[in-house]
Amino acid sequence: MRLFLDTANIKQIREVARMGVLSGVTTNPTLMAKEKGVSYRDRVVEICEAVDGPISAECTSRTVDELVPEAREVAAWHPNVVVKIPIDEVGLEATSKLSAEGIKINMTLVFSANQALLAATAGATYISPFVGRLDDAGHDGMEVVRESVEIFDQYNLPAQVLAASLRHPRHVIEAALAGAPIATLPYAVLMAMLKHPLTDTGIERFLKDSRSYEKESAKEPSGS
Ligand code: E4P
Repeated sequence: MRLFLDTANIKQIREVARMGVLSGVTTNPTLMAKEKGVSYRDRVVEICEAVDGPISAECTSRTVDELVPEAREVAAWHPNVVVKIPIDEVGLEATSKLSAEGIKINMTLVFSANQALLAATAGATYISPFVGRLDDAGHDGMEVVRESVEIFDQYNLPAQVLAASLRHPRHVIEAALAGAPIATLPYAVLMAMLKHPLTDTGIERFLKDSRSYEKESAKEPSGS
């Protein structure tokens, strides 16, 4: 399973990339709005230069005639850019046109396996079911991930399920067990995956014990 970061914050992206666990990044207009003093294009290019993997950048046009040229322009920013498009009639039509040109699409705001199947059929490379937002509305968000993975496997559809809107480390485990090939997570969720209090106390104790060992060996006369 590949892990992506769901952020437009370059500091967080660089930090996680250094740990060697980052395979891609997803952004969206809400995440971008938190970044001040940088254009969307410049930030996306900066991310592409920091991470060698698919970088999703979202398009916002609401007609096919506007969305298709916008997507072409965004795709031309960097070879690793994946164009993110929300699923609806406009999104599907644009996706079928753009995917025929070889442009990679991440179909976003997917809330059902039916939508996932339509997105895959239109030619999207990545399909993003929003698990947390479904959970918030009282549904089982992970069910969409499970069903979509099963459908794509059963019919050998090349689209990849990109589990999104993950809110806690348990979501990541469940997405992995459901067979999602990719999960995109906020920085805080990735750090929560890493941290464990027993690891912290274990490190502290080993450090303390190694210091006392060093002191003992310092007391020993040389040559003994
Ligand atoms: C995915 O690509 C989206 O950017 C993201 O996962 C949405 O998550 P949210 O529901 O926490 O906003």
